[in-house]
Amino acid sequence: LQNFIFNSVGSVIVEDGISSKIGPSIAAKFNSRNVLLITDSGLQKLGLIKPLFDSLVRVGIKVTVFDAVEADPSESVVTAAVLVAKEQGIDCIIGFGGGSSMDVAKLVAVLASGNQNLKDIYGLDKVTGRGVSLVQIPTTAGTGSEVTPISIITTGEDTKMGIVDAHLYADLVMLDAELTVGLPSHITAATGIDAMVHAIEAYTSAIKKNPMSDALVREALRLLGNNIVEACLNGQNIEARRAMLIGAMMAGSAFANAPVGAVHALAYPLGGRFHIPHGLSNALVLPHVLRFNAKAASGLYSELADVMELPGKTPAAKTIAFIEWLETIADTVGIERQLRQLNIAESDIEMLATDAMQQTRLLINNPREVSLADARAIYEAAW
Ligand SMILES: NC(=O)c1ccc[n+]([C@@H]2O[C@H](COP(=O)([O-])OP(=O)(O)OC[C@H]3O[C@@H](n4cnc5c(N)ncnc54)[C@H](O)[C@@H]3O)[C@@H](O)[C@H]2O)c1
Ligand SMILES: [Fe+2]
Repeated sequence: LQNFIFNSVGSVIVEDGISSKIGPSIAAKFNSRNVLLITDSGLQKLGLIKPLFDSLVRVGIKVTVFDAVEADPSESVVTAAVLVAKEQGIDCIIGFGGGSSMDVAKLVAVLASGNQNLKDIYGLDKVTGRGVSLVQIPTTAGTGSEVTPISIITTGEDTKMGIVDAHLYADLVMLDAELTVGLPSHITAATGIDAMVHAIEAYTSAIKKNPMSDALVREALRLLGNNIVEACLNGQNIEARRAMLIGAMMAGSAFANAPVGAVHALAYPLGGRFHIPHGLSNALVLPHVLRFNAKAASGLYSELADVMELPGKTPAAKTIAFIEWLETIADTVGIERQLRQLNIAESDIEMLATDAMQQTRLLINNPREVSLADARAIYEAAW
């Protein structure tokens, strides 16, 4: 056994309907009087934040809502939210939504007090402190952002940058499956595949693979793999929704400590250049990266095949069964399988491959080294 470090959030509550009755706990636990709720306008319009808002107001907490988060959030959104937090003298930030809202909430929490700017904290371990409490409530079962110390921000027309720092870990995470029953099928599918990719890539993480993450991955994959189709086809099934939320969180906790690799590295340029949602970008390259990785990782993929009780007598056969199982899920839930279906031209592959090679932070975690020619070949296969 190699030495390892494992970090996570302070506390997790899993309870259907919890967001409608959490006010007293927030007031008591954090001595909070002045909350900034960070979300996107879609969730605001759906009325999903209302029960939480009312629960906070009932115990005398002042609540300001910032609902201008967009998918793949930009620097200007973070700056605008930080300004609101400073003006209002906020003492607690609640991120409410998908990865986009939660990623913004993390940054606002560390920038709302102190004198660092967003530009100062890109990269690893640059944050000097956090003066306000941070609560995260996911409404997609996907990114696992609620339990990661990572925030991803769109920095230009087509580039994304990460902030990774232990100060981004939430004090409290709430999983309320009732919030996710209305999540549209195509978002359920894409975000669910993202979560499955987190599990798979954490399990093959080249440098920081560890037994805690491995244990989380096995249970996450079991929960996600057994429930993703049901959650997509019958979104009202609260059991399936709860399983997806727990699975996504466990996968998030796994990859927070055993980081993801080439699937994410090759997915990011699709998001950056073509604004394809994060989960769908992952789904498009997933089987092709796994086929490429198999040479180095088929032993590990076959262990994951065993978790799902897939057939096969040898590691190679089980690896094929595992990849085909993932492809069948994508087909069943109606996820696009080819880049060309998304108006990407074959001539774009060179640019995508060049961009992917910039993701060195992720590529070093991949179980097999990826060259520019390899990246090109993977995109060709996905095209
Ligand atoms: N921090 C991390 O560790 C981490 C990991 C992976 C991805 N990310 C980032 O997360 C972002 C993607 O997050 P995401 O995939 O969760 O999507 P998202 O937050 O961008 O939300 C996508 C859409 O789903 C809608 N939505 C969310 N919950 C809903 C619900 N319950 N009912 C109806 N509609 C709902 C939102 O309004 C939005 O329109 C990207 O910016 C990505 O880079 C972060
Ligand atoms: Fe992801």
